[in-house]
Amino acid sequence: MTLRSGSDGQKTTFIGAWFRATVGAAYSLAMALPSRAMRPRVVRLAREFGYDHRVGPRPTLPTMEIHEAAPDVAIRVREPLSADGNVTLLELTVLNALVAARRPERIFEIGTFDGRTTLNFAANAPDAAVYTLDLPTASIPALAVHSDDRQFIGRSQGGARGARFRAAVERERITQLEGDSATFDYSPFAKTVDFVFVDGAHSYDYVMSDSRKALELAAPGALIAWHDYGEWEGVTRALNELHASDTRFGAMRHVRGTTLALLEV
Ligand SMILES: C[S@@+](CC[C@H](N)C(=O)[O-])C[C@H]1O[C@@H](n2cnc3c(N)ncnc32)[C@H](O)[C@@H]1O
Repeated sequence: MTLRSGSDGQKTTFIGAWFRATVGAAYSLAMALPSRAMRPRVVRLAREFGYDHRVGPRPTLPTMEIHEAAPDVAIRVREPLSADGNVTLLELTVLNALVAARRPERIFEIGTFDGRTTLNFAANAPDAAVYTLDLPTASIPALAVHSDDRQFIGRSQGGARGARFRAAVERERITQLEGDSATFDYSPFAKTVDFVFVDGAHSYDYVMSDSRKALELAAPGALIAWHDYGEWEGVTRALNELHASDTRFGAMRHVRGTTLALLEV
């Protein structure tokens, strides 16, 4: 039996799609228990049925639209395919446009991971020195981390750190720093950084600490960007609280349709 889907005589057979979806869903559901890699697929499937994967507080930051956040400039997109732990392609587009328009001389990223965003910063800010900080191999975080953070830390420490820019032409403008973002000595960079990207550990304690460190780094007129707002409980709670209780964070905005938050200092 062949049931055609679509109204214009497409050759898609519904039974073929149904069979593949059924087998795929069953496989994903079964494998999600032993395999972490399969879990995001199951969460995406659950979201189709109205499941809200967010736990913790609702985002309360004032919002801005993407067209207000991202300047209309030409950008370069390096390494467009994202891995779990990277920013989305849309978020990368916004970050690249911000960097390309602002032409920062110094960029500081907390949380290198595989270096996809680091590489894009360097590609879109041709005059910039890009610094990116991550935990050294075999070190243990000083503050509490979320259990899922251990996965990213493990992959980073296991060899992924900076892999995306290792052979890139922009490599010479990228400096990899090793340290714990809570205890790192930021004094050589204090008030000199034009663009700070906070994307390290996602626990409340770390986001509170990293956000305050980001302010210390920021030169007058700098932009600070955070990732994972509205997605990770610790990030959402920390940024909601900083915005509500600390006037230095009062102008922070959530870019609607993304998990980015921005603050012009
Ligand atoms: C979500 S990943 C960063 C993703 C990356 N910024 C990107 O855009 O692709 C988080 C990174 O933060 C690092 N990290 C976690 N805790 C840290 C800490 N206390 N100090 C420095 N880096 C940390 C992890 O090792 C991991 O590489």
